[in-house]
Amino acid sequence: MTRIKTNVRQLAVVQICLLFVCFASSLFAQDENYKKKFDELTKRTEWFRDARFGMFIHYGAYAIPARGEWVQSNEKISVEDYKPYVDAFKPGSYKPEEWAKLAKKAGMKYAVMTAKHHDGFCLFDTKLTDYKITTNMPGRDFVKEYLEAFRAEGLKVGLYYSLIDWHHKDYPNVGNHPMRDNKEWDKKKYNWDKYLEYMHAQIKELMTQYGKIDILWLDYSFDDYENEKWKAAELVKMIREYQPDIILNNRLVFNHGASSIKREFTGYGDYETPEQALPESDLVDAYGNSIPWETCLTLNNTWGYNATDNVWKTPEAIINALVNCVSKNGNLLLNVGPESEGTIPQQSVEILTEVGKWMDKNSESIYNCGPADLPKPEWGYFTKNGKNLYAHWTNSMIGHINIKNFNKEVEKVTVLTTGEPAAVSENWWGNSDQGNYFINVKAPTYLTFPLPDENDTVIKLELKEE
Ligand code: GLC
Repeated sequence: MTRIKTNVRQLAVVQICLLFVCFASSLFAQDENYKKKFDELTKRTEWFRDARFGMFIHYGAYAIPARGEWVQSNEKISVEDYKPYVDAFKPGSYKPEEWAKLAKKAGMKYAVMTAKHHDGFCLFDTKLTDYKITTNMPGRDFVKEYLEAFRAEGLKVGLYYSLIDWHHKDYPNVGNHPMRDNKEWDKKKYNWDKYLEYMHAQIKELMTQYGKIDILWLDYSFDDYENEKWKAAELVKMIREYQPDIILNNRLVFNHGASSIKREFTGYGDYETPEQALPESDLVDAYGNSIPWETCLTLNNTWGYNATDNVWKTPEAIINALVNCVSKNGNLLLNVGPESEGTIPQQSVEILTEVGKWMDKNSESIYNCGPADLPKPEWGYFTKNGKNLYAHWTNSMIGHINIKNFNKEVEKVTVLTTGEPAAVSENWWGNSDQGNYFINVKAPTYLTFPLPDENDTVIKLELKEE
């Protein structure tokens, strides 16, 4: 009897152990699988993380009323009342070649243009609706022309596509729909599957009819309109089937743009998209891996052309934002909102030209760079590429900059902005205080000299080892 009992007990222990082993190995398998996906993501996003700086372009019929791309929703305009703007949108002087030249001059490496925004009007020759540019201007597929112009300048090309559609009859009256206060509209019947079919089919057109697309920027999820509501798994599978190397943003899921992301990160998108904000640190996934991200930023306060929005950021603020992003392993996607005829506002051109001048001298501290393993200094930021450490002196205070407790061997220190050697000293007026590394544009390091670039004077430190 005792013997039987012991056997039963032993059996139970063996079973529990087996269960535990199975459970543990399934956990392990999940981890391995995640790791594999994460490695693929790392490989796929390599050019993107190296590029660091791109141009966002919000262009569409909303440039006619000139009150931003949300005008239809903000002013609760019906499709019928919005139609005159759409009909009037026939920009004879649309020249994306000029945009591409400006992007290149600013030091940008890629671009993303709105193929369709929330108003539903398409800038491409879709077969699925007449609500498109080729109805207004036969033979002029603006997406195609944009892609050709940007590729010709050697820039990578991306397309923005709105998941939301205020024009489609099967898109419900939800979220910030322009008809949200119209009780009659609530009674309307809509067929969600039909809208999904349309949306998937349009994305398929974009993925199949325009050659290689480098980025797809889907926008955006809200409330329970996320993930499988969009049939995201099927959509992503289709996208990757036609464009295996495409980089996909993360807006098929809600909660984009949070300042710290701690979720598994290889499902519906390749990178996070904080909007109009700079995260406080680099972004990590559920396992602490640093993940790709891109802050998108307007030059004034609206994405689409807004004739009365004159709150322009300074070139200095933009350079700072770019450096800030790179120092935290992120990208900057900087927006322009061309006027209805396709001209980029003069203020935007001026800011981008200034940024371009800075990039001409200092871009090696941006491209292929990421965070340095050093605390953020009060005088600016660090970026790093292998053995090259870049000190971005954005906060021109008194005297020198100091890298406290710096224990790396340095082979050469130059002012990248001028190409001149920098002055370095490890003590302060002969004081033998340890752990300082003072740098200035000239000797003696303790005095104050005018900086060659008030926006950001970059000091390059060539290290002996990474
Ligand atoms: C938001 C806005 C949109 C803009 C986008 C850019 O989702 O709805 O107008 O295109 O952000 O990130």
